[in-house]
Amino acid sequence: MSVDTRVDLGGIALRNPVLTASGTFGYGLELAPFLDLTKIGGFVAKSLTLEPRHGNPPPRIAEAPSGMLNAISLENVGVDAFVRDKLPALPEGVVVVASLFETEIDRYAEVAKRLTGVPRVAGLEVNASCPHVKSGGIEFGQDPKVLASLVRAVRSATDAPLLVKLSPNVTSIAEMAKVCEGEGADGLSLINAVQALEVDVERRRPVLSNVLGGLSGPAIRPIALRMVWQARNAVSLPICGIGGIASAEDAVKFLLCGATAVQVGTWNYLEPGAAADIADGIAAYAARHGFASVAELVGKLEVPERPRR
Ligand SMILES: Cc1cc2nc3c(=O)[nH]c(=O)nc-3n(C[C@H](O)[C@H](O)[C@H](O)COP(=O)(O)O)c2cc1C
Repeated sequence: MSVDTRVDLGGIALRNPVLTASGTFGYGLELAPFLDLTKIGGFVAKSLTLEPRHGNPPPRIAEAPSGMLNAISLENVGVDAFVRDKLPALPEGVVVVASLFETEIDRYAEVAKRLTGVPRVAGLEVNASCPHVKSGGIEFGQDPKVLASLVRAVRSATDAPLLVKLSPNVTSIAEMAKVCEGEGADGLSLINAVQALEVDVERRRPVLSNVLGGLSGPAIRPIALRMVWQARNAVSLPICGIGGIASAEDAVKFLLCGATAVQVGTWNYLEPGAAADIADGIAAYAARHGFASVAELVGKLEVPERPRR
């Protein structure tokens, strides 16, 4: 049985539900010898700022059990160089989602404006896991009021399909999802890396120069699944599930929990071709279970009623 693999992620038409995650696939060409980007749903480019940015000094990545820590601090070429140099170099047929971040709300809006109407950009993903200078460094995505102002400003700056990528470093992901829905986002991406710390005991120092980093990879997958499921129960926006996906089975778990599409992140470093295999594996799962389309898998998690005590 042939399975219809197409999905609609908040107005972004994808040929299948698998994308590569921001920051783990460069600007699309670096890993091109290993993965044909026209075979996957799309790719989310490294987050862009108004000006080019240098990241933190090394060490800025470290191994962790079943994952990695990073504190790259969003090094990037800047929005104008991306549009001028990086986008035109991508092969035709690649679905590009441009990710953006800044330290102040009006700057976020300006980056969104510069990406709007640019040929080849199918949609925008707002990375809300960045420290907000005016709030003393808490992440935009950690305060509902700040998040609301951010989404409102970016929404009024662009008519492109708009995904908001939520921070997992919150008490209630459902509350943050509702804020995004209320301010006109077209979809949610979740989760970003989980704030973490690792220690070098011999030197009695943090392993990363930045002290704190983001934990990603299979270690965070159950947290991500939980958050996707909670967000799905709180809003009707389409969700792109992210966190520790390493196989088609992992991806299917996200679809069952309510994600319309998924992103593969850290696993690209181990297997740069994984995203295409994962897309094939999802279709094979759907066929094996008698679903005519991948979209039918979304939200099919059966939660048994709990016996009363
Ligand atoms: C080295 C590295 C760089 C990242 N850079 C970004 C970034 O620029 N923007 C962003 O939104 N997320 C960034 N992320 C987070 C990933 O896109 C993803 O949300 C997170 O790693 C969880 O997925 P994973 O467990 O599959 O890696 C980065 C992750 C890693 C490991």
